[in-house]
Amino acid sequence: MGSREWTPDSWQGKSAAQQPIWPDPAELERVQKYLSGVPPLVFAGEARSLTRALALASQGKAFVLQAGDCAESFSDFSADSIRDKLKVILQMAVVLTYSSGVPVVKVGRIAGQFAKPRSLPTEEVDGTTIEAFRGFIVNDEAPTAKARQPDPARMITAYNQSASTLNLLRAFTKGGFADLSQVHTWNQLFVASSKEGRRYESIADEIDRALRFMRACGIDPATEESLHVVDFYTSHEALILPYEESLTRKDSLTDKYYDCSAHMLWCGERTRQPDGAHLEFLSGINNPVGLKIGPTISADELIDLCKILDPDRVPGRLTLISRMGANKIKDKLPELVRATQHHHPEALWVCDPMHGNTFLADNGRKTRHFDDIIAEVDSFFSIHRKLGSWPGGIHVELTGVDVTECLGGTEEILQDHLDLRYETACDPRLNAKQSLDLAFEVASLLRRGLKSSG
Ligand code: TRP
Ligand code: MN
Repeated sequence: MGSREWTPDSWQGKSAAQQPIWPDPAELERVQKYLSGVPPLVFAGEARSLTRALALASQGKAFVLQAGDCAESFSDFSADSIRDKLKVILQMAVVLTYSSGVPVVKVGRIAGQFAKPRSLPTEEVDGTTIEAFRGFIVNDEAPTAKARQPDPARMITAYNQSASTLNLLRAFTKGGFADLSQVHTWNQLFVASSKEGRRYESIADEIDRALRFMRACGIDPATEESLHVVDFYTSHEALILPYEESLTRKDSLTDKYYDCSAHMLWCGERTRQPDGAHLEFLSGINNPVGLKIGPTISADELIDLCKILDPDRVPGRLTLISRMGANKIKDKLPELVRATQHHHPEALWVCDPMHGNTFLADNGRKTRHFDDIIAEVDSFFSIHRKLGSWPGGIHVELTGVDVTECLGGTEEILQDHLDLRYETACDPRLNAKQSLDLAFEVASLLRRGLKSSG
């Protein structure tokens, strides 16, 4: 390891888990060559400002909201779907910021979240074995041998879709849509009529009142830039390494490498082998990086990985995303948090309450129960509080529309309802109401902790 001999392609000398076998190496090479020449999706300076924001979170001065699709889809790609996702994230951010008074760092699982690690490389369909669906950046979800053939040209489509998505996100977040005077318009019709929608409306009313109060005091909100815009960052799992390598650029200002496919990249639970290709790649880029931590990791392994990813212990560089499951977190997380407090206190802890709580419903649908999600977040907060560590954020899979993929919530989605609107390209996501509900829960946990710490 070590950054001395690191190059964007040095991962190729290591074993890479979860990679498709591209049938045509010449085509892969052509695509990589093309992608090496395209404009970057994000700039190094933006990645550095995210590092600074995450550094504040690691010091207990900010809270991270990382949210978006499990897997973005080439077929569900429209201005409306991007806008609706952003609406929910802005609503959650408002709830968290207003109720806790802590700044919220907004990071989407969006504009590049296309690749999926799989538990098995193949699956059985009607007696024949076909390759598993690895996300739209690799193959198609249709259950036929032809659709499942990995196709490198999909990386170009993924790049293009990411560029358009990011373009719209930049327009929305900097062009007036995210203005605090617009809080009411983020409450979609189907949400507004619900219990959590009404609860949101009352916060939105209070924000209106606060803005009027400022005006009455002689402060002109129109001239306060920060009320009108939001810094919104992008992130995805750095899984398909030829893609990430090809979008890596040397920053002319600092002479350092950045993976310009997103502001933040994370390493999945299935690809975090200390001597593997993913750790090698992520160790050399200068973006902020995340590491998913499941219940099987030991404290020693974790500290090893922290050293590989963040040898200089730069605050904001490393985010540890705990995904234990509601019934394991109490046993597993405390010793890991204690280990980082001792050996790597710069690391920021974030809770992914989704991936450890997935199970198969009676009808075979992958699902998660809202109560388990809340229970895991609850334990995450209490463990950190008890150890004197900052519960730095949440990482969730959600969508802006009214899907029925996760069970429970105030609407009481039941197993029988799952088939109604089950639309995800991969894992079950919280719908807009469940997401808002979660934000209220987290806001109250945050507030409680702030009170008790004075
Ligand atoms: N810019 C501030 C922030 O991002 C305030 C703000 C503007 C805001 N629009 C927002 C906060 C929408 C949450 C949601 O915190
Ligand atoms: Mn997922």
